[in-house]
Amino acid sequence: MGVSGKKILIAVSGGIAAYKIHFLIRGFVKKGAEVQVIMTPDAEHFVTKLSLSTLSKKPVYTDFYSDNGTWNSHVEMALWADVMIVAPCTANTLAKMVHGMCDNLVIATYMSAKCPVFIAPAMDLDMYQHPSTKQNLKLAEDYGHFIIPAESGELASGLIGQGRMAEPETIAKAVEDFFNSGHTNKSLEGKTVLITAGPTYEAIDPVRFIGNHSSGKMGFSLAEEASGRGAKVILISGPSSQVINDKNVELHRVTSAKEMLAKVFEFYENADIAIASAAVADYAPKEVAKEKIKKNDDSLTIELIKNPDILKTMGEKKSHQFLVGFALETQNEEENAKGKLEKKNLDMIVLNSLRDEGAGFKNDTNKIKIFTRTEKKEFALKSKDDVAKDILNFVENQLLK
Ligand code: PMT
Repeated sequence: MGVSGKKILIAVSGGIAAYKIHFLIRGFVKKGAEVQVIMTPDAEHFVTKLSLSTLSKKPVYTDFYSDNGTWNSHVEMALWADVMIVAPCTANTLAKMVHGMCDNLVIATYMSAKCPVFIAPAMDLDMYQHPSTKQNLKLAEDYGHFIIPAESGELASGLIGQGRMAEPETIAKAVEDFFNSGHTNKSLEGKTVLITAGPTYEAIDPVRFIGNHSSGKMGFSLAEEASGRGAKVILISGPSSQVINDKNVELHRVTSAKEMLAKVFEFYENADIAIASAAVADYAPKEVAKEKIKKNDDSLTIELIKNPDILKTMGEKKSHQFLVGFALETQNEEENAKGKLEKKNLDMIVLNSLRDEGAGFKNDTNKIKIFTRTEKKEFALKSKDDVAKDILNFVENQLLK
C-alpha cells in the first residue's frame, strides 16, 4: 500500500519553505509514486523548475502555456491526480483557493481537481494567527480538505512561533496514512466513538499559558484505529501538531479545558463509546491578563482555580455510553487508577505510568495496564498504534459481555 503507484500532484506556492519540497518529491518518487509538480509564478523566486523536474522526472509547469506553444491542461492534471498537495501553501494561495480567485495555473488546477486535497500552510506567525487565515483554513476544512497544520519554531522573519510548514516527513505520513486507511475489520461499524486527545492550554496572558507535554499521539492513534474498524469518530483535540486524514474522523481542535468540555458535550449524547485520553489541565489562571505581563518584580504569583473535570462530568451524565478514562501516574499507580475508575464512574481505565521508560507523553510508544471493576490486564511496551488496538480490542470484548 502506501504511495506506491499513486499519482501525486504537488502545487508549490511562493514561500521560503518551498526549499523543503525537494525532500517530499524525492521521498514519494523513491517509494514508487508518480509526481507532477506545478508552481505559482512567485514560487519560482524560491525554487527552480530544473531542480523540481529533475527530482520528479517530469516537466514542471507554472503557466497555462509553455514556451513552445503547448497548452498545459490544468483539467488533465487535476483529473490525473489521486491526490493533490498544496505545499507550502501561502496565505495568498490559501485565500485564492477558498474564494475561487482563479488567476494562475495552481488555482485553476485545484478548482478542477476531484481528488482529496492536502494543504500544508506556511507563513509568518502573525499571518498564521490572523482571523482571515483562520477563517480560510476553516473553509478549506469545510470543503473536505486535509489541513496539515504549520509547526512552531524559528521563522524566516526571525520571529519564533507557529507558521513553519510541516516537515516533509509529516506531510508524507499524512498522505501515506490516507492511502493506508482501507481497513477490513469493520467491528465498530454503526458505532460513534468520541475521543479526547492532546493537552489543554490555559491562558495566563496573550502570550503565555499553562500546558503539559501531551503530543496528542495516543488519542490520534485511537481515532485512526476506531475509524479503521468502521466507527464514526469524533476527535476533540487540544493544541497538537498531529494530523489525521480520514473521512470517518471529525476533528475538532480546542485550546482550553472549558472549550474541550463544551465541545465534548455537543457530541456525548450520541456517542456509544467515549475515550478520554486528553491530558486536561487541572487548574487555570483565575484571571487572564489582557496585556502581556511585564517582568517588573522578582516573583510573580498567579492564582489558579480548578478546571472542570470533563471525564467526571461525563461519568455523572452517563446513560448508555461505554466510558473509558486514562490515568497518568507517577506513584501509587494502580491505587490511583482504580480510585479514578470509581470516582469518575468509568467502565474502564487505562493506566500509563511515567515511571515506565517509553510510556506516557510524546513517545511513539506506550505501556499500559487496563482495569475494569473486576479485571486487570497488563500489556508490554508497544507503539501507540498497537496500544490503540489493545485498548479497542478490550473495549469490544467488554461490549460483548
Ligand atoms: O498525547 P501523548 O503525548 O501521546 O501522551 C498520551 C497521554 C500520556 C497524555 C495519555 O496516555 C494519558 O495518560 N492521558 C491522560 C492524562 C491525564 O490527564 O491523566 P489524569 O490521571 O490526570 O486524568 C485522569 C482522566 O481524567 C483522564 O482521562 C483525563 O482525560 C481526565 N480529566 C482530567 C482532568 C480534567 N480536568 N478533566 C478530565 O477529563
